[in-house]
Formats: sequence, structure tokens, C-alpha cells
Amino acid sequence: MQEILEAIQAGATGDEIASLPIPESYRAAHVLRAEQEMFAGMASEDKDPRKSLHVGDIPTPEIAPDEVYLAVMASAINFNTVWTSIFEPLPTFGFLDRLGRESEWGARHARDFHVVGSDASGVVLRVGSAVRNWKPGDRVSVHCNHLDDQDPSAHDDSMLADNQRIWGFETNYGGLADLSIVKANQLMPKPEHLTWEEAAVNALCASTSYRMLVGQHAARMKQGDNVFIWGATGGIGAYATQLVLNGGGTPIGVVSSESRAELLRAMGCEHVIDRRAEGYQFWSDEHTQDESEWRRLGKKVRTLVGEDPDIVFEHPGRQTMGASVFITKRGGTIVTCAATSGYMIEYDNRHLWMKLKRIVSSHFANYRESFEMNRLIDRGAIQPVMSEVYDLESVGEAALKTHRNEGEGKLGVLCLSPEAGLGISDPEKRERIGEDKITLYQRHARGEL
Ligand SMILES: NC(=O)c1ccc[n+]([C@@H]2O[C@H](COP(=O)([O-])OP(=O)(O)OC[C@H]3O[C@@H](n4cnc5c(N)ncnc54)[C@H](OP(=O)(O)O)[C@@H]3O)[C@@H](O)[C@H]2O)c1
Repeated sequence: MQEILEAIQAGATGDEIASLPIPESYRAAHVLRAEQEMFAGMASEDKDPRKSLHVGDIPTPEIAPDEVYLAVMASAINFNTVWTSIFEPLPTFGFLDRLGRESEWGARHARDFHVVGSDASGVVLRVGSAVRNWKPGDRVSVHCNHLDDQDPSAHDDSMLADNQRIWGFETNYGGLADLSIVKANQLMPKPEHLTWEEAAVNALCASTSYRMLVGQHAARMKQGDNVFIWGATGGIGAYATQLVLNGGGTPIGVVSSESRAELLRAMGCEHVIDRRAEGYQFWSDEHTQDESEWRRLGKKVRTLVGEDPDIVFEHPGRQTMGASVFITKRGGTIVTCAATSGYMIEYDNRHLWMKLKRIVSSHFANYRESFEMNRLIDRGAIQPVMSEVYDLESVGEAALKTHRNEGEGKLGVLCLSPEAGLGISDPEKRERIGEDKITLYQRHARGEL
């Protein structure tokens, strides 16, 4: 891998890169099948990703005709890596085994290790014989929608494909590694005004938020909509906030500290709710929700924007869904992609049907949506929300930080890239877009706002 890194840093041509040998093994962050019961019986919050995430060499698989070898310069922590590393709600080896039974190429994934990671930026090293649009030397970012496009079900909205999976979560050989195997239809051009790590953190969260709010398949926000956003400085929330501002809507952003409130205001979100300072208790005990607390939240929103939200951007799940359904405007939309605090959801159905609200589900994004989101980032209309950068050896620390809700926005991870700040090949564009805008989350994390 050292030779590959040196070639990339020296600006080697595609032909030169294509002639370099692919190593037989590579460094990767992974969990082990033999350890999938290691946290049995423990409370979620006590499960420590530092114990289950290992960084070590794994054998390099062959690439299929529609895949490429990617030298991964940087990757990111996503919540799905937290789920994999605490083996919740299920160990991910079951996903790998199912993929393993599907085809000869699928069988490569069913191993006793699972290489995690669903974001990456890097350089294409080799392309399979069926790859047409990409070549060795291409600098790319990667989205995580993994599907077999020879299946007819993948040809309407590819998120509806029977075999749709998330790369590095439901497949092996993910992005938190020096090398990865990636399908050609996961590749997008790297925004060249960004560093490797700034370019690596966006695709999963940004594309998810794009589909939830902007694409054709979920809430379809329009100009003037009030959009209530839980976790508005978190991974998906921070991109949602930017999309609402860009799209002529009004975000009402929820966070849980004054520091995050300050960051949110710095992003241009005028209406901010600090849920901790307000002390909302939507559940009076484990089984009972408190409607008066939903009302208190609804009143707060009306005080801020004078109306109820047209859209609620929902992902905390069990803790918040009752409130989300209640506060949504008559005829409005609750769009959900997750359930961080618990997936057995309860809400008062009367508030849904009597006020003709709808709950819309959303999951990641198809290639087109991801590509359109990548284009917005490339044009500088959406900024990366990376607050900190870790090296691959510290991936467990970074996952723990996300597990504990202590990180802001996205945490980047350096893979082959030896240090932060490398990879910008269009400095003029960076200057035009504005260093301050691009690095807002990093400056906030350093206490420089
Ligand atoms: N389906 C998909 O394709 C998809 C894609 C991406 C993510 N996800 C899922 O979406 C969820 C969020 O992901 P993320 O990357 O944004 O995570 P994240 O970076 O940790 O941000 C989540 C934010 O949610 C807020 N939050 C956490 N627990 C909460 C609670 N009980 N009540 C209210 N707010 C709470 C926190 O903000 P404050 O504490 O500041 O309020 C936190 O910053 C995860 O479950 C993830 O697996 C799904």
C-alpha cells in the first residue's frame, strides 16, 4: 500500500497507477464473528466499540467485473458502524451470510471478519472488465447503495431493489480500510476543493437527507415549508438544515446543548430549540407518554415560526415519534429514516388520521439522488460538516464518541492519507467558496467560533 500511496501523492498517471500491484492483504477495521456475543446481556450504552473493532490485515478479495479496487484515502464514522460494533439490533454476519448464498461473487462477503465503513474518498486502482465510466487514477467519493443491477426490481427506484444493501454494513469490504472493493455504480467524482477527509464524510448522511427532503420519493419539501429537524447538528440533521435553507424553507432545529445551538445559528438556522434546556419529558414512564409535553413542544414551535411544521425530519424514534406526529401541521409529513432511541414506536393515531398527516419512510438514496447531492457539494452549495479527524487505528474511539452522542456533525477517519488537509486539487475553487464556510464544524470543535 505504501507504493500506492507514494504514487498517488506524486500525482502518478492512471496508467502508472494501473501498473502497481494490488497487495495480497490490507489494513482494515473489522469486527469478528467469534466475538459477536461479547456484549450479550449488557445495556447498549455500556457496549464499547473500542473492544469489538479491530484494525489489522485481511486478505484482499478478487474484484467482480462490475467493481473497482479503491485506494481509500479517508472514510467516516456512521451510526451503522456503531450498530455493527455493538452487534445491535443484530450481528451483521447474518447479512453477510445471506449475501454469500446469493452468487459466486456474493460468497466473497461471507467471512469470519466484517470490514466496516460506508463512506470513502479515494483513488481508483483497477477496474473490472465490465466497468465503462471509470478508470485507474480517477479521484472519487463513494456512496453506499449496493445493488445488483441485473435484477429488474432495481430499475424503478433502485432503493426498491430486492437485493438493495448498504455497502460496509450489509456487505463486507467497507470503507474503513486502506483498500476497498466498490461497485462502479457507487462512484462519484470527488469534489476537488475538499480534502480527502472532507470529501469522505458526506455521501451517506447527505444523500439520506437529500432523499428525505428533496428527492421524489419522500417528503418533497417546497419553498416556504417549515421543517422541524431533530438532531440538527448531527450527521443527517446538519445536511438537512443546509438543504432546507438552500431550498427556501425555514428550519426549526433541535439540539441538546448551548454549544450546538451556537453552531446551528452559525449555519444560518434562526429558530433553535435546546431540548435539554427546555427539559422535555415526552415519556412519563417506560410505557406512558405525556401529551402535555408534546403540546409544550408544539407551542414552542408556534412561538418561533407562528405555524406548525409542514415536515418533521424524524430519526430519534421511540423517544420522539409521539411528539413528532403531534406537532406536525394538519396534512403535513413526518419523514423517518431511523430509530436511534428504539424502533418499537408509539404515537397517538388520532392525531395522525384526524389531521390527515402522513408518515413517510425513507432509506439512504439511489445513485441519482446521491449523485445530485454530490453535485451540490461539488458546487459549494452544501458544506461538509466534519468536526474532527481520527486515524484508522483510533476508529474505536471515534465510534464510541458517536455512540455516546458526543461528536458534532461527522467524524472523519484517515485511511491511506497520512495526515489531514491533503487532497485539495482546486484551491481557487476552495477560496471562492470560502474556507470559513467549509471548515465551520472544525472551527467550532476547536473552540474558534
Ligand atoms: N436509513 C438510512 O439510510 C440512514 C442514514 C443515515 C443515518 N441513519 C440513522 O439515523 C440516525 C441518526 O444518524 P446520524 O448520523 O445523524 O447520527 P448522529 O450524528 O449521532 O446525530 C444524531 C442526532 O440526533 C439527536 N438525538 C440523539 N438521540 C436523541 C433523542 N433521544 N431525542 C432527540 N434527539 C436525539 C442528537 O442531537 P442532540 O442531542 O443535539 O439533540 C444527535 O446529534 C441513526 O440511527 C442512523 O443509524 C439512517
